[in-house]
Amino acid sequence: MAEAHSDDVTRRDFLYVATTAATAVGAGFAAWPFIHQMNPAANVLALATTEVDLTPIEKGQSIKVLWQGKVIFVRRRTEEEIAAARNVQLAELKDPKSENIAKPNASAADENRVVKPEWLILIGICTHLGCIPLANEGEYKGWFCPCHGSVYDTSGRIRKGPAPENLHVPPYAFKSDSTVLIG
Ligand code: FES
Repeated sequence: MAEAHSDDVTRRDFLYVATTAATAVGAGFAAWPFIHQMNPAANVLALATTEVDLTPIEKGQSIKVLWQGKVIFVRRRTEEEIAAARNVQLAELKDPKSENIAKPNASAADENRVVKPEWLILIGICTHLGCIPLANEGEYKGWFCPCHGSVYDTSGRIRKGPAPENLHVPPYAFKSDSTVLIG
């Protein structure tokens, strides 16, 4: 029974919202099935990007998707969460760098960690020892990592605990108002 319950929780926690693995060569695979089957590099390439349908995500909700085997948080922030993330001085931050893969030299100001303020997209791996933090938990209601007590804010920045860096921001782009492509 305990095992079944655990499975249920895991399934519920991992709300996959219409994600698809995509690839830069796209329709080319249909034309070259044998090449695709025989080329291991193509299998890796096929997981290079993950497309996420944003329409089912409600305000205040954070979901998890997978990109290149990593957990990605996609959070639709409320106005209060955005304001909380922006009403912070850089001097208050433990890690004042953005940790945005696309903006390696930017500061950790919230503006440098998002493309659209409403959507916060992060690699969901605690920068301490790699646990997956819990959304909407902790003192700052961002994420809380139960492994050793790291606390992240509503921009995914480390505020307390042993983690040395902010949650990292993966490369991504909006294909439309309702679709984002991660990777
Ligand atoms: Fe998150 Fe240690 S792995 S606090």
